Amino acid sequence: MDFVDARRKSQFPRKILLAAGFITLFIFVFKNSPSFSGGSGKFSQHEPGVTHVLVTGGAGYIGSHATLRLLKDSYRVTIVDNLSRGNLGAVKVLQELFPEPGRLQFIYADLGDAAAVDKIFSGNAFDAVMHFAAVAYVGESTAEPLRYYHNITSNTLLLVKAMAAHGVKTLIYSSTCATYGEPEKMPITEDTPQVPINPYGKAKKMAEDIILDFSKTSDMAVMILRYFNVIGSDPDGRLGEAPRPELREQGRISGACFDAARGIIPGLKVRGTDYKTSDGTCIRDYIDVTDLIDAHVKALAHATPGKVGIYNVGTGKGSSVKEFVEACKKATGVDIKVEYLARRPGDYAEVFSDPSKVNRELGWSAKYNLQDSLSIAWKWQKAHRNGYSN
Ligand SMILES: NC(=O)c1ccc[n+]([C@@H]2O[C@H](COP(=O)([O-])OP(=O)(O)OC[C@H]3O[C@@H](n4cnc5c(N)ncnc54)[C@H](O)[C@@H]3O)[C@@H](O)[C@H]2O)c1
Repeated sequence: MDFVDARRKSQFPRKILLAAGFITLFIFVFKNSPSFSGGSGKFSQHEPGVTHVLVTGGAGYIGSHATLRLLKDSYRVTIVDNLSRGNLGAVKVLQELFPEPGRLQFIYADLGDAAAVDKIFSGNAFDAVMHFAAVAYVGESTAEPLRYYHNITSNTLLLVKAMAAHGVKTLIYSSTCATYGEPEKMPITEDTPQVPINPYGKAKKMAEDIILDFSKTSDMAVMILRYFNVIGSDPDGRLGEAPRPELREQGRISGACFDAARGIIPGLKVRGTDYKTSDGTCIRDYIDVTDLIDAHVKALAHATPGKVGIYNVGTGKGSSVKEFVEACKKATGVDIKVEYLARRPGDYAEVFSDPSKVNRELGWSAKYNLQDSLSIAWKWQKAHRNGYSN
């Protein structure tokens, strides 16, 4: 009895804290939901000299870094995110950095909800859209293809329809090198045939096709950026990559390396050592998130009504998984244990970009190398063992 009472007593403050946490979250989400009528109203009007960008998926890894850069560059930003994968903590960091009225608003909504999306476009005066929101794991897409076609292809169709209906004429679309599949010739140029080999790549290619076909009938300014493998984080340590713990198995190599270095997982699982590459492991082109976002800002500046720009955004240099692991060991100072396993379904051997088009036309090139990116990202990871809940 005493034991039960003591346990009840010790859980009491925890429950109060938990309840307070939920109430705070509720107020935060409610205040920022489309139906909440508070705020400055600046978001609902176009303002000369101010470009208002809708950032879908802005609570996520790349979208939050994009929001930070846009705000730093004096854009007005509305984030729409359903928090299925992103972090409210990232949005809070951004709101604390830019608290002034009319700078940043967060709207909790699902892009698959046509009525909610229409309401968002009715109530806000957007000048451009950066569409990041998506589920984005190759392995998961082979296990749950319908989810991917719905979340990526169908939601993009809905978003483009809303843009057309509300006269929003600039779209920067997050595409991927996964739309190319496994081309025979490297490096990959924008003219390399797109033959995706997994539902993720196929869903993204279909979304591109929808955008391209629509653009032929409108004067929309479209920029499609096909990213390679994104790594790194804000060099000033304000934002980082914090996928949900349940996504660790699906996860990307950088997250797994850091988790292994922190002892959260026992070691690193490298899937596939018999690929036709120099050391048998997959080769990827790792692009730093700060560089990637710089390409978005340049794409926005170059977006032209009635024109489409398609660009590979990568470094042009491939690194093998083994090389990546060595760089990660150096960045973290930890001798990470590595386990070699069979191939993962849906993976391809070698992918790296030819970034000469984006260099030439947008004046963009990658500045960070693999080692620098991992060292910067490790600083944030070390300081945020529990992601944004720290
Ligand atoms: N990370 C990479 O290496 C990489 C490479 C190529 C392309 N991309 C593309 O970049 C984009 C961003 O990827 P990321 O790595 O930041 O992923 P992420 O999971 O960190 O962020 C995606 C965000 O979208 C939100 N979201 C998902 N479905 C939504 C919906 N239906 N409604 C509203 N919000 C929704 C999630 O909650 C999350 O905040 C994706 O489109 C992805 O396909 C990423």
